Amino acid sequence: MISKQKGCLDLYGTNAKKWQYVSKVFESLMEKYNYNYIRTPIFEASELFHRGIGETTDVVTKETYDFKDRGDRDITLRPEGTAGIVRSYIENKMYGDANQPVKLFYNGTMYRYERPQAGRDREFTQFGVEVLGSNDPLIDAEVISIPVMFLQMLGLRGVKVKINSLGDKESRDNYRQALIDYFKPHINELCEDCNDRLLKNPLRILDCKVDKDNALLKNAPKTLDYLNEESKKRFETVKEYLDELEIEYEVDSRLVRGLDYYNHTVFEIEASVEGFGSNNVLAGGGRYNSLVNQLDGPQTDCIGFACGVGRIVQALDLEEVKLPIIDDLEVFVMYVSDTEKKYATSLMHYLRANGFRVDTEYTGRGLKAQFKQADRLKAKYLIILNDEDLAKDEVKIKNNKTKEEELVSVDYLLYYLDEHLSDEDLDDLDIDDCKCGHHEENHKCCGHCHHEEEEE
Ligand code: HAM
Repeated sequence: MISKQKGCLDLYGTNAKKWQYVSKVFESLMEKYNYNYIRTPIFEASELFHRGIGETTDVVTKETYDFKDRGDRDITLRPEGTAGIVRSYIENKMYGDANQPVKLFYNGTMYRYERPQAGRDREFTQFGVEVLGSNDPLIDAEVISIPVMFLQMLGLRGVKVKINSLGDKESRDNYRQALIDYFKPHINELCEDCNDRLLKNPLRILDCKVDKDNALLKNAPKTLDYLNEESKKRFETVKEYLDELEIEYEVDSRLVRGLDYYNHTVFEIEASVEGFGSNNVLAGGGRYNSLVNQLDGPQTDCIGFACGVGRIVQALDLEEVKLPIIDDLEVFVMYVSDTEKKYATSLMHYLRANGFRVDTEYTGRGLKAQFKQADRLKAKYLIILNDEDLAKDEVKIKNNKTKEEELVSVDYLLYYLDEHLSDEDLDDLDIDDCKCGHHEENHKCCGHCHHEEEEE
């Protein structure tokens, strides 16, 4: 038997439904924020990631999937979405579009050759956004608000927002020097990679996975102490907008992020759910005002974030959030004879075309086994075809919960199902008891209410 590769996932069954639901919620949120979908290739020229993400980052030095294609080109599977989108923005001259800033969102698989563990995969899916062409602090706050609102809409409660500022180039240069001065006398206490990082890119020492518990790192200089006045003021304004949006956050002056392109605002959203483990960052992002220029485009101020879908679903599972995923069937059509089977074929087609979720029997089972199959599929209504009823243009319908049966004229069937299924939906929802305020009586519940808690 051939097994899947380490750190990869086969997505199927209920888990696949959860991912689909999470994906739909993200896409509908993107409509509300007026972001446009973008899809860029899964593989790109290796140089893009080396120059874009940074030669000294762990992602580039240790984690990329690199290969030569049959034309002897150096190719890399994308380890993240930002660099590819910036390449596309430059190549397609989006900076010339009348609508500025360019607000984009994506949903795709990324590849990092990491040591597989819970929450850290080699192939994983990110949802993310990139805003290209604005340095307005309002956009910083808005971009932070997206994953916050997204996680709230999914019903996740245990999340913590951490923000920091790396400042502009002058502030970053001052901070870089402060780190070199601080670490230099202790160089022997750091791992081999950090020795190498000291002069090339001392910021990377702060997210070293080997030295992460070393007290030296914990007591290292803080970015906020090296911000110049302008950067400080900018950071204050971002915080004011976050307050306007009523987003709770914690300033973490040690947050530097693992990719090189950031300046000014950086942020992460952590799951504070019990049992999550150490890979608990659900979303991360920040401002990158130099990247477009660095990749040969015009000076363009940008900000974005990405979140790990696998980690989000894991957090939802741990918090036991019940997602409103469809795991039942509206109608199961049953038959025995060949003529009934033919009738079933056209009837299903007719019902599906009219918007019902319908299934039938495909393995030649008898009626008794078909009832069991209908139960397994959680069918709400059974249509039990019978040649005699069909001769009168009628079908037998059974409510699979109450077990009540009725003979219904085929002409009346759509109306019957419409009526009865919408009554059931309302019965399931307990709308009268709901105090969430998200819906009016007789309208469908938003599906995100936590009725029991609201009642406490
Ligand atoms: P990142 O922090 O490398 O940032 O990744 C963002 C999120 O992707 C993480 O917070 C995590 O949830 C998820 N993630 C990362 N690596 C893995 C992995 N190996 N397995 C499972 N999930 C993972 C970026 O990728 C930036 N491009 C974000 C950004 C966009 N910054 C500006 N714009």
